[in-house]
Amino acid sequence: MSRLVVVSNRVTAVTDKKAKAGGLAVALQDALQEHGGVWFGWSGKVSPNPSSTPEKKQVGTVTYATIDLSRKLYNEYYSGFANRTLWPLFHYRLDLTAFSKQNYSGYQQVNTLFASKLLPLLEDDDLIWVHDYHLMPLGDELRKAGVTRPIGFFLHTPFPAMEILTALPSHKTLVKALCAYDVIGFQTENDLRAFLDYIVHEAGGGIMGNHLVHVFGRTIRVEIFPIGIDTEDIVKTARQTMRSGRKLRSKDMPGEREWIIGVDRLDYSKGLVDRFHSFQRLLETYAAYRGRVTFMQIAPPSRSEVPEYKEIRHELEAQAGHINGRFAEYDWVPINYLNKSFTRKELVGFYQASRIGLVTPLRDGMNLVAKEYVASQNPQDPGVLVLSRFAGAARELDTALIVNPFDYDAVAEAIAKGLDMPLEERRERWAAMMEVLRHNTLGVWRDNFLDVLSNCPYDS
Ligand code: UDP
Ligand code: G6P
Repeated sequence: MSRLVVVSNRVTAVTDKKAKAGGLAVALQDALQEHGGVWFGWSGKVSPNPSSTPEKKQVGTVTYATIDLSRKLYNEYYSGFANRTLWPLFHYRLDLTAFSKQNYSGYQQVNTLFASKLLPLLEDDDLIWVHDYHLMPLGDELRKAGVTRPIGFFLHTPFPAMEILTALPSHKTLVKALCAYDVIGFQTENDLRAFLDYIVHEAGGGIMGNHLVHVFGRTIRVEIFPIGIDTEDIVKTARQTMRSGRKLRSKDMPGEREWIIGVDRLDYSKGLVDRFHSFQRLLETYAAYRGRVTFMQIAPPSRSEVPEYKEIRHELEAQAGHINGRFAEYDWVPINYLNKSFTRKELVGFYQASRIGLVTPLRDGMNLVAKEYVASQNPQDPGVLVLSRFAGAARELDTALIVNPFDYDAVAEAIAKGLDMPLEERRERWAAMMEVLRHNTLGVWRDNFLDVLSNCPYDS
């Protein structure tokens, strides 16, 4: 078996005790633990004098190799082009997308830097698998440095419609560089369709069938690999939670009170402002739920140096305060809004204790929280997932209550429907979703991608 070399911007060693937030880190951690290999990327640290060689740490079968970034590159690449240009653009937020030549140059420089630092770590028949929008040009940089073996790329975010992508001044350079990879994986059919649309109508390429496209003088394979979760591991944790018999925070939840839970990085793509509006609509429209439901929103801060993330944080604080001020009673607070992260074990307990999982992003590549919520439920008495149609997960979890997050009345109605849903219907919907989660696990996602990559005919 070839050695697996995973490359991503964010690398999280299993020894990091801090709770992690972010689907990519959670998924790659799990995927690598089982398979073994090398995980190369940014250490998460900014340093005045980044070391010229990666820092290596061996944990079990995984070697973590990381580099620091200078403040300048961090600003231009991470806080700049990756998270003020590509992230909003790929999530259909042209209104928040900022373009700057300097940031773009920083982004290119980090990709060149990654290639030069990765190169000495590579062995002859490594399988190289690069992840996410931070590293779209890395394959091309590796090629320029002489790497000839197949390189795969998986995009965790949505791939935007051509009309959106072409608003990016450097769109063609970026997509051309992306096409230096041999296999490009997307989360959903929508993303693949958007990519193919671009390839045919903007890049003058052709679709050859059999998942192959010919473009920029190369033949590449493009396919859907919807990312999964480690379903059995979550089910096991959920069973332990049930066996321990501890009803979470039961002292705070007297009588008939039910929980609604949301777990998201504090990111505008997650639709939290609209979600709070929808919850407010629930309390306005269905007065009987006042005092009976508590909405717990876990929202660990993310990318806090990016201005748009600062703004959303302030907006949500004000909104939560407003809703609580308007509806709270001496013995009930409607929204429990927490700006901190929790471990997976803690989250499983929260999910299980919640009658409703409220997952309403305005756009999301997949959304692993939706899947984790389902896998954490008690099979005898499962909760209900209310899921945005704009989350990639909605393609697979189609027996959730699918909503349009912009339609507050509809979301409020779905929450009410979920709260009152008969046990039989809850079980049926849950069982159908569990079947999908048991079938398309994280391991299946990884193995399918690597299978395609390792059988890939190299196109020089
Ligand atoms: N997560 C966590 N602790 C938290 C909040 C989130 O471990 O306090 C994890 C969560 O369990 C999930 C991931 O972060 O695995 C979030 O992934 P998702 O795909 O939902 O969204 P992303 O943050 O990648 O956009
Ligand atoms: C999303 C992105 C990942 C990213 C994660 C957390 O899942 O697709 O690439 O790692 O968010 O964001 P951060 O900026 O903290 O790495």
